[in-house]
Amino acid sequence: TLTLNDRANAAATGHQHSGIRQLHVDQLTGPKNQTPDVRVTLVAARGRVTLDSGRTVDALTFNGQSPGPEIRARKGQLVEVTLVNENVSEGVTAHWHGVDVPNAEDGVPGVTQDAVMPGARHVYRFIPTRTGTFWYHTHRDGRLNVRKGLFGALIVEEPTPYEGYERTVFTHAWPEPGALALDRADRPAREAVAAGRNVLLRLVNSSEEPQRVQLAGTEFRVAAIDGNAVQAPTPLKAGTGLVLAAGGRYDVTFTMPAGPVTLAGAADASLAFSPDGAAAALPSTGGDTFDPLTYGSGPAPAGGPYQRTFDLRLDDGFGFSEGRIGFVSSSINGRLYPAVPSLEVDRGDRVRVRIASRSTVDHPFHLHGHRVRVLARNGAPATGSPWWTDTLNVGSGEVYEIEFVADNPGIWMDHCHNFMHASNGMVMHLAYT
Ligand code: C2O
Ligand code: CU
Repeated sequence: TLTLNDRANAAATGHQHSGIRQLHVDQLTGPKNQTPDVRVTLVAARGRVTLDSGRTVDALTFNGQSPGPEIRARKGQLVEVTLVNENVSEGVTAHWHGVDVPNAEDGVPGVTQDAVMPGARHVYRFIPTRTGTFWYHTHRDGRLNVRKGLFGALIVEEPTPYEGYERTVFTHAWPEPGALALDRADRPAREAVAAGRNVLLRLVNSSEEPQRVQLAGTEFRVAAIDGNAVQAPTPLKAGTGLVLAAGGRYDVTFTMPAGPVTLAGAADASLAFSPDGAAAALPSTGGDTFDPLTYGSGPAPAGGPYQRTFDLRLDDGFGFSEGRIGFVSSSINGRLYPAVPSLEVDRGDRVRVRIASRSTVDHPFHLHGHRVRVLARNGAPATGSPWWTDTLNVGSGEVYEIEFVADNPGIWMDHCHNFMHASNGMVMHLAYT
């Protein structure tokens, strides 16, 4: 049994919360006795991966590959994943990024479970309630072990699957200088897709920095952001840049034209689609950049009233560590985890959070267990389709206003998805019963 440790909070805030602080995470599980609809075993092990450059590097794999196997389920199905650790010495877990699972299935070592050590296993059971593009990754030593390959896609489909050509594309920065991969080296970088066919590209950024990709050769739409459908998405010009937050996803759709279409990322990484399998010219860099704040249109759900409001200030600083100056701290309201006070809410609260960055670098802020709606950026209100996200890139000097509903009790981790920043302190909890 894991219980919420309120000591750091009390030390940080100087007061004890009067409500129930004993939260037994292992009561917040997925369905225990039903027969699963989708059953998957993920075996984490050391392995080798061949990069686009042709170089083969040491990696960590799920079922011998990275990205790991794509898990597919339909909305409402019970998913059961058995995670087995063959020989990853730091231990592993599986976190279902963007899926609002019951808390005990969240895969955070030290919070919702112990890390799965070599020779051990752990079973996750949950029912995804929203369709879309999600991903899973280890949450143990994420800074190295996600980079080295312990991640994969989790696709939640409608009862009738998508008709057309569909492909999941990860932008992943391997821990090798300049090694940015679009997808896997053993999948073709050129694919034949018949003209007139519907195409859905599920873009996932599994690296720790924002990644800009460009789609050339066709106009296209952003159909979903972080697994949330965009209302009334309008066509974007060919060559429009998409900047994926670290951990973020965009679903891109278009109708295959007669000529080639190219998806290009940094460091010459590219994928080409064309009726005859030929490569297309890369788009020239520059051009417009997609902005979810104003994209699409649709009735926004009413905001507020808010039972709680919070102000978070993200900052960085230089410190002193192991006798060396230069260690960078990444703080929330001037404090480093675990001394950052938790967001204290009650179940059912509507919560408004202002996140302001005084930092010089990007902080992809990720909330576990809850999707959030962006209300405003730098004082400008969101005017497009309601922008729901689970990983918001807060750039240098930016200020975001977001809201969420506290509808999934447990002890949740909210943190910067740049794992180095997280290990430097930019982590906090959201906890309620
Ligand atoms: Cu994608 Cu706390 O994680
Ligand atoms: Cu950060």
